[in-house]
Amino acid sequence: MNALTRSLTAYWSSSIGKKFVVALTGAFLVLFLAGHLAGNMLIFAGPEAFNAYAHQLHTMLDGAGVWIARVVLLGAFLLHIFATISLTRQNRAARKQYEHKGTIQATLSSRLMILSGLTIIAFVIYHILHFTARVGNEYNNPELYTYLLDGEEVHNAWKMVIDGFSWWPATLFYILSMVLLASHLTHGVQSIFQTLGWRSKRSSGLIDTFAKGYTVVIFFGFISIPIAIQIFGFGR
Ligand code: HEM
Repeated sequence: MNALTRSLTAYWSSSIGKKFVVALTGAFLVLFLAGHLAGNMLIFAGPEAFNAYAHQLHTMLDGAGVWIARVVLLGAFLLHIFATISLTRQNRAARKQYEHKGTIQATLSSRLMILSGLTIIAFVIYHILHFTARVGNEYNNPELYTYLLDGEEVHNAWKMVIDGFSWWPATLFYILSMVLLASHLTHGVQSIFQTLGWRSKRSSGLIDTFAKGYTVVIFFGFISIPIAIQIFGFGR
């Protein structure tokens, strides 16, 4: 074992090391959400703008860009989950020795984090099957989902999203998942600051407001799409 592997192993075994991994990967995923939301808002600008954006994402670096982004995103997602599982186990083993009432509140909050986290995993799997793998629908059918963008035939991702949310069970599942995502985010964003040591008595109020404000934007931003389509008939 060389020095680097040794120090990485020691870092991973320590609970603070794992907390840092959870916080840094969490921060990355939180930023991804903001970027994804900003791109998704182009749905309201119409098929031209949204399809041009989707086409650009898929053709970046001759198509390699989207795969690089997927690998990095999946890596961060898996690392976030594995570090959390390992940390929870480590904490449980330690808590058994020193059980007292003070841990009850923390346990409730971490249980909610686990529940919302598991819902997010289920949501992401469904979401990828829905819009990326396009399983169980015709979104890959060029006769139905082709858009003419500046003379070039591209995938009509805009129509795919409109059709996707025209089916109410999908809309309902997305909205329910966003509720749990919001719960995970408020606590998660606050914890990132705490773990990185940026939370003090003076800054805690500001951090909590920021975490809540960020969650509100992400929550209403994402649900605005299925609600606009399903309830207000946008694009249909
Ligand atoms: C109403 C809300 C949302 C809409 C309309 C939406 C739409 C989309 C679309 C159109 C794609 C691209 C599929 C493709 O062409 O390859 C995509 C990809 C993706 N979305 Fe969302 N999304 C939403 C919410 C979310 C949320 C909340 C998350 C995370 C918790 C998320 C995570 C992802 C991921 C990881 C990908 C990349 C999959 C891949 O292509 O490899 N999305 N989304």
